[in-house]
Amino acid sequence: MKQCLTTRWTIIQRVFFLLIIAAAGPAGAQIKGNPERGADKAKTCIACHGQTGRGPMSGVPALSGQQFEFITLQLILIREGLREIPDMSGMLKELKDQDLADIGAFFSAMEPFSPRGTRNDRRFAAGAKLSEIMGCGSCHMKGYVGQRQVPRIINQREEYLAKTLIAYRDNKRSGVDTSMNAVMYKTTDEDIYALAHYLAHQN
Ligand code: HEC
Ligand code: HEC
Repeated sequence: MKQCLTTRWTIIQRVFFLLIIAAAGPAGAQIKGNPERGADKAKTCIACHGQTGRGPMSGVPALSGQQFEFITLQLILIREGLREIPDMSGMLKELKDQDLADIGAFFSAMEPFSPRGTRNDRRFAAGAKLSEIMGCGSCHMKGYVGQRQVPRIINQREEYLAKTLIAYRDNKRSGVDTSMNAVMYKTTDEDIYALAHYLAHQN
C-alpha cells in the first residue's frame, strides 16, 4: 500500500533519530543491537541470504560485514513498505525496531564479502574512471566500506549492484534520502554495468 509523503517522512525521521542522531547524544539513547539475539531472529533469513551472510542466489544482496545502521534502517523501510521487497515484507511485519537492530548487529559482525568471478580489465578500468568522476568514494568512503547509513558496496554481488543502481536511476528505489537517485540520474545501462563490475571485483 502506498503511504502519503508526510507519513513516509515521519517514519524516516523517527528511524533516523533512533539510529543516527541519538548516537551523538547521551549514551543509552541510541538503539543498539545484540548479535546473539539477532542470530536467533535471523533464522528465516538464511534461506536466501545464506548461513555466512552471502547466499548463492542471484539478485540477493550479501549482508555480512554490512554497516549496522544501514541494515537496520533498510529493514525498517522494508517493513513499512517504503522499500518494496515482496519476498520479505511479510516476514518483517511482526518484528519490532529492537528485533531489526539485533538482526542488523548479527549480520554486520560477520566476515565481509570477498570478490567473486573473473575481472574484465577493460570494464573494470571504465568503472574505476566513472567512480572517480561521479565521486562514489566521497560518501561510500575509501575502499567503499561505507559508514553508518551509507552501505558497504565493495565486493557486493555484481548483478545485485547493477539491478539496484538501475532501480535508483529509474526512481524505483529511494532510501533514507534521494541522494542515490540524484547521483544515478541519466546514467546509461552500460556505465552502470561498468560501475557494478568495478565494485564487485576489488581486491
Ligand atoms: C525469499 C528470499 C528472501 C528472504 C527469505 C529474505 N530476503 Fe532479504 N532480500 C531478498 C532480496 C531478493 C533482496 C533484494 C531486493 C532488491 O532487489 O532490492 C533482499 C534485500 C535485503 C536487504 C537490503 C540489503 C541491501 O544491501 O540493500 C536486507 C537488509 C535484507 N534483505 C535482510 C533480510 C532479513 C533480515 C531477512 C529475514 C528476516 C531476509 N532479508 C529474508 C530476499 C530475501
Ligand atoms: C551523496 C552521497 C553518495 C554518493 C556520492 C554516492 N552514494 Fe551510493 N548511497 C548513498 C546512500 C546514503 C545510500 C543508501 C540509500 C538508501 O537508503 O537506499 C547509498 C546506496 C548505494 C547502493 C545500494 C547498496 C545496497 O546494498 O543496497 C549502491 C550500490 C550505491 N550506493 C552505489 C554508489 C555508486 C556506484 C556511486 C557513484 C556512482 C555512489 N553510490 C555515490 C550515498 C551516496
